[in-house]
Amino acid sequence: MPGVSRYYLETFGCQMNVHDSDRMGEVLRAHGWTAVNSPDDAELVVFNTCSVREKAEQKLRSEVGKLAPLKAARPELVIAVAGCVAQQEGEKLLKRVSHLDLVIGPDNIPELPKLVQEQLAGAPPRARTEFDLVETSFLSASPDAGRKPSSAMVTTMKGCDERCSFCIVPYTRGPERYRPAAEIVNEVAKWVATGAQEVLLLGQTVDSYRDASLPPPASDDPDESQFPSLLRLIAREVPGLKRLRYTSPHPRHATESLARAHAEVGILAHHIHLPVQSGSNRMLKRMIRRYTREEFVVRARRLLAAQPDMTMSTDIIVGFPGETDEDFEATLSLVQEVGFTALFGFKYSPRPYTPALRLVDDVPEAVKAERLARLFATIDLQGNAHLARLVGRQEEVLFEGVSKTDNNMGLKRRFQGRTIRNEIVHVLVPSEFDLTNVMATATITRANKHSLEGDLDPGTVALLPRTSRASSRSLPLIVGNP
Ligand code: 5AD
Repeated sequence: MPGVSRYYLETFGCQMNVHDSDRMGEVLRAHGWTAVNSPDDAELVVFNTCSVREKAEQKLRSEVGKLAPLKAARPELVIAVAGCVAQQEGEKLLKRVSHLDLVIGPDNIPELPKLVQEQLAGAPPRARTEFDLVETSFLSASPDAGRKPSSAMVTTMKGCDERCSFCIVPYTRGPERYRPAAEIVNEVAKWVATGAQEVLLLGQTVDSYRDASLPPPASDDPDESQFPSLLRLIAREVPGLKRLRYTSPHPRHATESLARAHAEVGILAHHIHLPVQSGSNRMLKRMIRRYTREEFVVRARRLLAAQPDMTMSTDIIVGFPGETDEDFEATLSLVQEVGFTALFGFKYSPRPYTPALRLVDDVPEAVKAERLARLFATIDLQGNAHLARLVGRQEEVLFEGVSKTDNNMGLKRRFQGRTIRNEIVHVLVPSEFDLTNVMATATITRANKHSLEGDLDPGTVALLPRTSRASSRSLPLIVGNP
């Protein structure tokens, strides 16, 4: 259809990918493209991909494969693969998938409209996967053009200088590069001006942050970074910001000054996601994590002590090469010792270009599955006990919008929000009210398996904005007694 440029964009993987997809949408829309909900209606299909674990990469391959008939029927359709699989495979991907037109790495997003235009004009398939090592840039968000979320993501650094033996990220995202603090503060302020009440700072090792404009690190310990200073700067410079989170920190930089920032910066979430990967020193060494179990426990306890109701979640890999029953028992006991309230658990899968490829993937699949099941049983006990303890308490909830489980029928609607510790809370309100981007106090009435139910008090409900289907309100609102 001449004159019409419609794109379909699908995102796999982590929050960084969601963030990159938002930026891709913005650059495309700035060049006259419009989003659609199905590849069938699009002139351009973009898959933003993840390769951190084998399963994620397999899923991508099957999704791209499914488009072969569409491409055969409409050869002018442009199919692009972006993100980590793109960066990892580059030209090779074009050779392997014959109906693919474009492969574009995370640092090449600004070039997307131009590259697509070339494809539409008949250029041969192309791969662009250059890291911006010389002139590093961070694509700024344009909140006015895109979504207006209650919680916005802001990139603070990219890449990773750790060399964890299992991990492909240093290969797909390149070396660490830090965004200037002033640019970060500006973007946070921009989001707050458009209505966001919470900001999530993003980086592969978000707490290794450095910037010459900030006060020097608290000590000459090489693990000490300027991340705590960045948190303080944001809180000071953007007084309208209500909540500040970050992901993912590396335990190496979870120093005493970070714990102090948690105790002193009022808007910091009472939750931290601190990936530990294993509780066995033997495995931690083989994983090249650069801390021992004992060091992790000290750092975790120090952070947990910074706030009376602080919680911690983590990432764990089971079945890493050479992991014995004893090593795995050490992981289970660490989960109990630290008292994590949630975790993401993964079976080890060998990744290309990683040092661990030299180790034999010798833990049988059935053993990996059994260990993962035991890990989940352990965390479910702890997570459920934690949620049960919250029943009866009053919590400040930042509501994101209508719950996924709302059936959009009847006199009440179900809205979903998060507590300061990131637990999900659902409430029911009469359907004429809109809780989107409202911060309100809810009394927790019930604990589900992975979320909470709550009630707003009737006085609060009366103050809520009314649903207006024509325009979506984005102004922040605080009701009740925050
Ligand atoms: N196999 C399994 N899990 C992995 N992760 C990273 N690489 C691998 C791998 N090769 C997990 C880690 C990390 C999370 C994002 O993914 O737990 O923290």
